[in-house]
Amino acid sequence: MATPSVSSFCFVILLCSAAAEALEGGLSVELIHRDSPKSPFYDPSETPFQRAEKAVRRSIARVRGLRSNDEGEPSADISRIDGEYLVNITIGTPPVSIMAIADTGSDLIWTQCPPCYACFPQEAPLFNPSASSTYKQVHCDSDKCHLFDKTSCNREGFTCEYAVEYGDESYSVGNISTDIIGLSTLAASPEPVPFPGMVFGCGFNNDGLFSIHATGIVGLSAGPASLVSQMGGYLSRLFAYCLVPFFSTSKYTSKLTFGSDAQLVGEGVVTTPMILKSPRQYYYLTLEGISINGKKFEVSGSSGPGAVTGNMIIDSGTTLTWLPSNLYRQIESAVSAAINFPRAQSPIADYSLCYESSGELKGAPSITVHFTGADVVLNWYNAFFEVKEGITCFSFAPTDDRPIYGNLAQMNFWVSYDLTLYALLFKPADCAD
Ligand SMILES: *[C@@H]1O[C@H](CO)[C@@H](O)[C@H](O)[C@H]1NC(C)=O
Ligand SMILES: *[C@@H]1O[C@H](CO)[C@@H](O)[C@H](O)[C@H]1NC(C)=O
Repeated sequence: MATPSVSSFCFVILLCSAAAEALEGGLSVELIHRDSPKSPFYDPSETPFQRAEKAVRRSIARVRGLRSNDEGEPSADISRIDGEYLVNITIGTPPVSIMAIADTGSDLIWTQCPPCYACFPQEAPLFNPSASSTYKQVHCDSDKCHLFDKTSCNREGFTCEYAVEYGDESYSVGNISTDIIGLSTLAASPEPVPFPGMVFGCGFNNDGLFSIHATGIVGLSAGPASLVSQMGGYLSRLFAYCLVPFFSTSKYTSKLTFGSDAQLVGEGVVTTPMILKSPRQYYYLTLEGISINGKKFEVSGSSGPGAVTGNMIIDSGTTLTWLPSNLYRQIESAVSAAINFPRAQSPIADYSLCYESSGELKGAPSITVHFTGADVVLNWYNAFFEVKEGITCFSFAPTDDRPIYGNLAQMNFWVSYDLTLYALLFKPADCAD
């Protein structure tokens, strides 16, 4: 697909040429792991294994939170606010840097803005809309008000307000606004590439389990208000990321690419359809089964008449991979039968398949994940994770809720989301390259 013309926003010559240059082919930004030294969450006093153990505990807490919320709630949302990756964007003129959680499971881009009715503490300065010369509020009759569906009209000023809630009762309420959003690219130019007139939320009432470190959320879902969809006019509706292995995150940075550069071609590319279903902010895939050393275990009901399509979501913000419990039990016994190694006591409750081993797990079985049309052959480190020095555990776990393909399983693959064809592509890669 050709990159759409950028002339529609060439209202300032400087912006125009910078954007046009960067948009040819696409644009790449750093995807910052929360435990990397560039992240505001980075704690230099922790060892890599302490970070690994915490990442597993976060993943378990997230899925547990889901279960305990279950009563009454219509299939509770995952708590979306403690994602594992961040992107550095700027908003406004002059640009203010925002270190936002990159979230494939939410639509709206938002940050906290004064005057606050209630803002949670954050380390970085707030984006002050009255200090930005390019900031505009959105009228409630405007199409831009309806890009996001949880909006209402402030009858006093006829301005557009939004309200978002996350699965764990965190929320943000604020004004739908537009301003220039800048992305600092990995290309040589130090200036962020500007995207004028982007719709985002200026939150004046925000509370819940937000962290003081992150200063907003950048939605990467297929919803019309997400960053990807809004950039779709400038870049084809296509993005991809390449996550470096967990224990390399302090040395190398993962990448997030938009536009035609995110197209995967060549040897090793596999493609599976993304399924549209509710809640629609997630990307759903169909998991048919998993092979352990060539023996395939199928997900019940994933093929044949009455097949359950879209039975798994893919998420970069969850560390472990969560399988339907009945499939998990079969996989766990096949994996433990294949590994001839002393079992170790797990440092984490309810997370039990662990071995006394450090570095590469010798004799780890080969594991292939079968999505419809796409067989993804995992590396040992996609499935085994050293969560404590000398203790390596299987990084898949059982759930009775919505299965999730997590980020450890995606490391050292290009994972490309094509929102025009509604397809997801994988290609093995060295993401530290
Ligand atoms: C974020 O981007 C701004 C502007 O491009 C830059 O000055 C800042 O150093 C970046 N921060 C990080 C942590 O990369
Ligand atoms: C939100 O909009 C209202 C109405 O225009 C305005 O009074 C208020 O200051 C705005 N708040 C923020 C944080 O922009």
